[in-house]
Amino acid sequence: MKFLALFSLIAPLASAAVIPDKVVTYDGYRVVRIATHGRGEAIERRLKTLNAVQYNFDTQERIEIAIAPEDLGKFEKMDLEYEVLDEDLGASIAEEGGFSPISASRQIFSSLDDLTSTGFPDSSWFNAYHTFAEHQQWLVDVQTGLPQNSELFEVGRSFEDKPINGIHLWGKGGKDSKPAVLWHGTVHAREWISAMVVEYLTYGLITGYNSNNTQVQKILDSYDFYILPVVNPDGFVYTQTTNRLWRKNRQKHPSNSCVGTDINRNWNFKWDTPGGSSTNPCDETFRGLGAGNTPENTALTKHAEALAANKGIKAYIDWHSFSQLILLPYGYDCNRQVDNYEKQMSLAQGVATAIAGASSAKTRFKPGATCPSLYKAVGGSTDWMQDVGKAEISWCIELRPSGGFGGSGFVLPANQIKPSGEEMWQGMLHLLTTM
Ligand SMILES: *[C@@H]1O[C@H](CO)[C@@H](O)[C@H](O)[C@H]1NC(C)=O
Repeated sequence: MKFLALFSLIAPLASAAVIPDKVVTYDGYRVVRIATHGRGEAIERRLKTLNAVQYNFDTQERIEIAIAPEDLGKFEKMDLEYEVLDEDLGASIAEEGGFSPISASRQIFSSLDDLTSTGFPDSSWFNAYHTFAEHQQWLVDVQTGLPQNSELFEVGRSFEDKPINGIHLWGKGGKDSKPAVLWHGTVHAREWISAMVVEYLTYGLITGYNSNNTQVQKILDSYDFYILPVVNPDGFVYTQTTNRLWRKNRQKHPSNSCVGTDINRNWNFKWDTPGGSSTNPCDETFRGLGAGNTPENTALTKHAEALAANKGIKAYIDWHSFSQLILLPYGYDCNRQVDNYEKQMSLAQGVATAIAGASSAKTRFKPGATCPSLYKAVGGSTDWMQDVGKAEISWCIELRPSGGFGGSGFVLPANQIKPSGEEMWQGMLHLLTTM
């Protein structure tokens, strides 16, 4: 309450032209999982009458959805079979450690060149979630750990003109001399854990290299890493200033007041295949008015094309949450299998085994092709990287939670950042030493 009052005082001074969207608190929202028994579409239509945010778009078996408190009575009357995943989403968001709209939107740097390092970060970074500006500072700081073998880069600008940055790491062969490992985080704005895990892995590569860990040195000597923790900066900032469950970018559309395109339905490969994305700008999976027409996608495509044309892309991973899945192409066609399916599947199984072995909790990740495992998804990054980018390995990894336990989906307690990072570090060591 306190920061809301402050915000309304300051807002008129800050901008006369732009009225900030109303902050969504999610206090009292209940997250439920509804069993659909193959009647997903019909149930979805009924749920559309509620003030609610749907989490998943594969509704054959289940629908996970956060329902506003004023509509809980109406939901009860629908008499659906469901279980409660989170009694009060607002309380979970508070526990996760949020930001005031002011702190989340202030101090965003137009370019990383505007920052100076505050020193190599320590691992306490992974005890909490962070604002976009803090992530920018972290990249500048972590780069100082490997000054001769790394550099920061910008692939382009977001719709709201924020920089899309990454860090490039290489080994003893020199810059740009080896096949690429390319990682994208936070394409879906609300999937906060993805940036943290990508950064945990980056931190492991740099500290491992510096401490003469022979396994890590061999990895960095074999591949050039291009790591982008936040590829959707506008959406990410919006999740911290305004709406924790925002997914898309913040692109405006000429003929519709709904905002945002799903960047991960916008890739220029079989983009207009029916099903698996939406043509309605108000939907969470809106594919955009043209293939690759989001500024974010344009920038990421250009970057990936350059890597493909140089030494090729050995492995691409798009980091998402949640469900604990390792997803291979294809998403656009459920009957098409990747040419090197056996190899990719066996690597993914090895990664899943390494993850399970990382802790006594034995976290289970399930590998499989996108369409049969998750749902038909058209215009996704992994299909593009496989067929157009010619990546040998092209995965989408859905991080914690599994869906049922330990957090209510996109809102994952900060004390799970380190365990998520550590299990994925073990998984990646397997992948990067055996692929
Ligand atoms: C790593 O090896 C280099 C070269 O042999 C050496 O200069 C450096 O002190 C070593 N670092 C650590 C942390 O052992």
